[in-house]
Amino acid sequence: MRKVVVHSAGGYDKLRVEEHPDPAPGPGEVLIRVAAAGVNFADTAVRMGLYDSAKKYVGWPITPGFEVSGDVIAVGEGVSAWARGQRVIAVTRFGGYASRVVVAADQVFECPDDLELAQSAGLPAVFLTAYYALFELCRLRRGDSLLVHSAAGGVGSAVLQLARHEGWRAVGVVGASAKVEAAKRMGATHVIDKSREDLWARASELEPEGYDVVLDANGVSTLRQSLAHTKEAGRLVVFGFASMMPHTGRPNWVRLGLDYLRTPRFNPFELVGQNKSVMAFNLSYLFDKKALLQETMGTLLGLVRSGALRTLDVLRFSVDRVADAHRAIESGQTVGKLILTFGE
Ligand SMILES: NC(=O)c1ccc[n+]([C@@H]2O[C@H](COP(=O)([O-])OP(=O)(O)OC[C@H]3O[C@@H](n4cnc5c(N)ncnc54)[C@H](OP(=O)(O)O)[C@@H]3O)[C@@H](O)[C@H]2O)c1
Repeated sequence: MRKVVVHSAGGYDKLRVEEHPDPAPGPGEVLIRVAAAGVNFADTAVRMGLYDSAKKYVGWPITPGFEVSGDVIAVGEGVSAWARGQRVIAVTRFGGYASRVVVAADQVFECPDDLELAQSAGLPAVFLTAYYALFELCRLRRGDSLLVHSAAGGVGSAVLQLARHEGWRAVGVVGASAKVEAAKRMGATHVIDKSREDLWARASELEPEGYDVVLDANGVSTLRQSLAHTKEAGRLVVFGFASMMPHTGRPNWVRLGLDYLRTPRFNPFELVGQNKSVMAFNLSYLFDKKALLQETMGTLLGLVRSGALRTLDVLRFSVDRVADAHRAIESGQTVGKLILTFGE
C-alpha cells in the first residue's frame, strides 16, 4: 500500500509518500481499497503539528485524513454488514491518506449508486461539520437567517446546501470575487465579497437586526464582529481559526502568538446580558459518538440519494501531488472540495 506519512511537524516537504505492507482487518474492522481521500483544511494544521486531537489520538508519525471512498476488499471477524466488492465511504480519525485503510465497520457507509466513487470521498467531513453545527447545536427554524464565512469552501458549500434545503436565509461571505458564483450555486441567498465590499456594513444592510446564527471558522479576523452581528437569542458557532494560518506551509510563530492573544475571550456576564450564545466544537472528538455518526450519515446520504444535496465540485490531485493539494488549500483560493486519488 501507499500512504502519506508525516514524521515531524513542518512544511510541504514533510508529506512523504511511502510504501508499506497492506494492513489486515481485525475483529469488527473492514479493509478498504481507497479510490480517493478527502483533503481538509485541518490536515494542514495536522502537518504543522498544530492540531490538538492529532496529538491526543496519534502523535508522530501521522498519516492525515478524515475520509475515504473505495471498495471493500476484506472484512474482519464478526463483520456481517459489509462484503468484498461493496462501494463504500468511510470516516477515519486520521489515516485517510492511504491506498488501503482499515476502519471500524460502524464508520463505513454505502456509497450511493449514482455517485462517482472518487467524488464521494469529499462528502463526509464537510457535511458532518455543517450538519452538526446547524442541526445539533443551532436548531434553526424555517425563515431564520444565517451568515457563513468562507462560503465557497468545503464546509461553507455544505452549509449553504443544507440552508437552501431547509429554507433558511443564508448570507455567504467569500474572500475573492472568483468565488461569488460558486457560493450562489451552492445556495447563498446573498454573497458578500469581502475583497470588494465592506463585509460588516453589507452584512448589517442585508439583516439590520442581525443574524440568528453566524458560523465562524476564521477566528481572530472576524470573531468579535461575528458575535456583534448575531441578533438577540442569536448563536455564534466557532469551529476553526483559519485566519491564523500561513500561506507558506510553515507557521509564523510571532504572528501566531499575537493572533492568539488578540483572539476575543467572551464574557459570560455580557453573553447573558445580551442573550446570545457562543458555541464551539471539533468533529474529530465526536467520532466516538457512534449513534450520532450513524444517524447523521444516514440522514445526509438519504438527502444525497434524493437529490436534495449534491457532492461538491472537486479538485483532484494524485497522491504523488499531495504537497500541491496542501499548497492549494492553504492558498485560501480554492472552491469546493479537494481530494487525493490513488489511481487503482
Ligand atoms: N471544528 C471542526 O470540526 C471543523 C471541521 C471541518 C472544518 N473546520 C474548519 O472549517 C474551515 C473550513 O474548512 P474546509 O476544509 O472546508 O476548508 P475551505 O473552506 O475549503 O478552505 C479554507 C478557507 O478559509 C478561508 N481562509 C481564511 N483565512 C485563511 C488563511 N490564512 N489561509 C487559508 N485560508 C483562509 C479561505 O476562504 P475565504 O477567503 O473565502 O474566507 C479558504 O478558502 C477551516 O477553518 C477548518 O479548520 C472545522
